[in-house]
Amino acid sequence: MSTIAGQLGNPSGVLGKGVARMLDRANRYMIDAAVDAARVAPGEAAADIGFGGGIGLRLLLDRTGSDGAVTGVELSRDMLTRARSRFAGEITAGRLRVLDGSLTELPLGNAELDAVITANTFYFVPELERACTELARVLRPKGRLVVGLGDPDAMAAMPFTRYGFRLRPVAEVIAALEQAGLTVEHRVLEHKPISGHLLIGRPF
Ligand SMILES: C[S@@+](CC[C@H](N)C(=O)[O-])C[C@H]1O[C@@H](n2cnc3c(N)ncnc32)[C@H](O)[C@@H]1O
Repeated sequence: MSTIAGQLGNPSGVLGKGVARMLDRANRYMIDAAVDAARVAPGEAAADIGFGGGIGLRLLLDRTGSDGAVTGVELSRDMLTRARSRFAGEITAGRLRVLDGSLTELPLGNAELDAVITANTFYFVPELERACTELARVLRPKGRLVVGLGDPDAMAAMPFTRYGFRLRPVAEVIAALEQAGLTVEHRVLEHKPISGHLLIGRPF
């Protein structure tokens, strides 16, 4: 169980390849909904932070189109390598950059992005306030941030989450986003076996 938890927080090695494929399948519903909620439009600058297997990067590239710009930020070396290989054409075309970094120290300038998504990442971040401040910092004044989370009660029933996952009440995450200067809309995603929460933040 601790191996599963470790792989979900930082996929790596042979197991990490399978984890990346599993993440793309299992979390597609949430990432699709996050991209929709972020209202990503052609020509915009958008990012997926903690992109894992990379399905979010694919969806953002499709939405932003040839005039847009997509950024992926990850701390897993193997997920960075995978994305650089999978999206080599888009990187060469200048439509995608894939950066080594963390939610708590984004390698991005102030007010650079129209839309940011981050799904299933906050469980691995001890410094919630710092991550929220960083995410708010990189948003343009009319930008949108979408944070996707599994329902903390349902996740607590999954044995692997006992190994280092931070399953915060949704209200605590909303409060941290508000403290960072965002107004927050909360949507529930009905899904089995774990329903999801989307927190849609806009600068006030
Ligand atoms: C459970 S996976 C989710 C991946 C993808 N977002 C999804 O929903 O399928 C968590 C991902 O977040 C990355 N991650 C963990 N902590 C991070 C941090 N502080 N900054 C950026 N990425 C992080 C991990 O390397 C991993 O790829």
